[in-house]
Amino acid sequence: MRALARLAVTTLLVAAPLTAVTAAASAVADPTPITVLTSDFEDGTVQGWAGRSAETLAPSTTVAHGGTGSLSVSGRTATWQGPSFDVLDTFVKGTAYTISVWVRTASGSDNARLSVERRTGGVAAYDQVAGNTAVTSGGWTNLTGRYTLATDVEFLRIYVETASTTGAFFIDDVTASYVPALPIQTGIPSVKDVVTEFPVGAAITGAETVTEHGQLLAKHFASVTPGNALKWDATEPSENTFTYTQADPLIAWAKAHGTAVRGHTLVWHNQTPAWVFLGADGQPMTATAEDKELLLGRLENHIRNVAGHYGDDIGVWDVVNEVIDESQADGMRRSTWFTVTGLDYIRTAFRVAREVLPAATLCINDYNTNVAAKRDALFALVSQLRTEGVPVDCVGHQMHINVSWPSVADTRAMLQKFVPLGVEQQITEMDVSIYTGSGESFPAPPADRLLQQAYVYRDMFALFREFAGEITSVTLWGLADDNTWLDTFPVTRKDAPLLFDTVLQAKSAYWGVVDPSKIEQTPPGTSGCAVTYRVTGSWTGGFQGEVKVANTGTTAWTGWTLTWAFTGGQTVTQLWNGTVAQSGTAVTVTNTSWNGAVAGGGSATAGFLGSWTGGNPAPTAFTVNGTACTVL
Ligand code: XIL
Repeated sequence: MRALARLAVTTLLVAAPLTAVTAAASAVADPTPITVLTSDFEDGTVQGWAGRSAETLAPSTTVAHGGTGSLSVSGRTATWQGPSFDVLDTFVKGTAYTISVWVRTASGSDNARLSVERRTGGVAAYDQVAGNTAVTSGGWTNLTGRYTLATDVEFLRIYVETASTTGAFFIDDVTASYVPALPIQTGIPSVKDVVTEFPVGAAITGAETVTEHGQLLAKHFASVTPGNALKWDATEPSENTFTYTQADPLIAWAKAHGTAVRGHTLVWHNQTPAWVFLGADGQPMTATAEDKELLLGRLENHIRNVAGHYGDDIGVWDVVNEVIDESQADGMRRSTWFTVTGLDYIRTAFRVAREVLPAATLCINDYNTNVAAKRDALFALVSQLRTEGVPVDCVGHQMHINVSWPSVADTRAMLQKFVPLGVEQQITEMDVSIYTGSGESFPAPPADRLLQQAYVYRDMFALFREFAGEITSVTLWGLADDNTWLDTFPVTRKDAPLLFDTVLQAKSAYWGVVDPSKIEQTPPGTSGCAVTYRVTGSWTGGFQGEVKVANTGTTAWTGWTLTWAFTGGQTVTQLWNGTVAQSGTAVTVTNTSWNGAVAGGGSATAGFLGSWTGGNPAPTAFTVNGTACTVL
């Protein structure tokens, strides 16, 4: 890691003077990715790759993705056999790596996937990086995915395998890279200290509990929801075999940090293994009495084990998830659960959960509950169940929304609807996509979308706080934009739906929740400025920084002079995209000839190198053209 850290600094130094300054408003550019693994097979060797078993790996010039060489893999006798590469000394725990490989079959077609095998205490686990993707002999197919190691391991290898055949294939141009994490901002308010009406939580995987991610989670959030680790496929992959290896470390982290846990989810139609819905004869279940009894028995056994395993450590459960389909006359989703048991799976699930956990809050959770037809169907179901005595304590609103939908009025109607029932309400999976339709895709989040998003967070949190008497928890579906399910749903494209960006820094969305005055634009004809100061890299005695000046008024600047005072004795040694003068602690930066013009709503960014001793605190006050600025 030492070598990598040095590499990171070198790369930044080389890249930094090229950093473009935009006069238009733009998000602060992400740091340059660092490549830690490249296998191009151009030197006629296997470059350290090895088979997972007795298959044959050899350099090949038969086909190549780039250049003239690739790696051929033949003599496979099982689909899991394939090329693998040791990354134990390369991958660092808590860092998110993007791994990319090109694959092509020698003949015929199949699906290929990219995975990581890791072992701890001799026990192997297999993590999928890129799922089954069609590959042929007619051309190269790219498999790309992200991987974050969250545990200590003694064995770590990436590998490629196929889904159904054992034919020969080729791989080429393998890379692994990461974007260096930045230190978290410790000087900004904690979300959980600002919003005290209800716990604010985040959905997590193991990766969110370690290193900088773990610090960010602990600083801001009072509740966590394992995003996948408690689903049926994770906890009972085969009948009556319960595994808690994914979830246990997350619950232990929450316990150690005094953080509440929402359990998600006991019953769902997705991420439930196929065996659950097969009858005693191995055939898909149908609406027979036998199948119904078998299915309800499996359900009861599952809930007794999973809820019982955690007991009071999990205070809230999404007992059933997404059971409504408002397009059906009866409002019920036609899942196998419903077609085999009718409403009895819901009744059984709540009854058993209550028996196992008398003190827990039991929720029914769904999406699009802001849509009138959906919320009315959910309301009718919850009313009926409660009248029957089914212990539904709470309605969970997922709130997967976007920057232009839904309106606050519809969201208010959603909350208002359930007030007469006297149930708790929770916001369970909130994120705010920057996209307004599946046709859109941006290489980087546009500034206007990020601002729109900040207003949505501002308005929705204001609404939630207004309903503080009903709402008992608000959870965001992720910690930071580096790890969000919306990167692949509903289509693959980079999204940015959360409060913190891909390098864990607070976005305008964060300020929308914590202090909206920081993001509100001043009225027409006015002047104003906002400054974002960041340390983008740091090493003994030196650091690299970036300072962005934003014109938050409507009057354009024809030039700008930025000042601040260092409080830790730092000195700017070199600056680009501006001119610097320092006298004692006082630093003055003026625009260059080409970035002085900044329209209202626009910004300019300068980068610099500095020296420090003892400490490197960020300056807390800035002026532009003599006016004190908001500090973001
Ligand atoms: C998502 C997870 O975030 C993804 O990692 C997974 O691949 C699919 O499921 N509604 C839910 C959540 O109730 O369980 C889903 O979580 C998002 C939609």
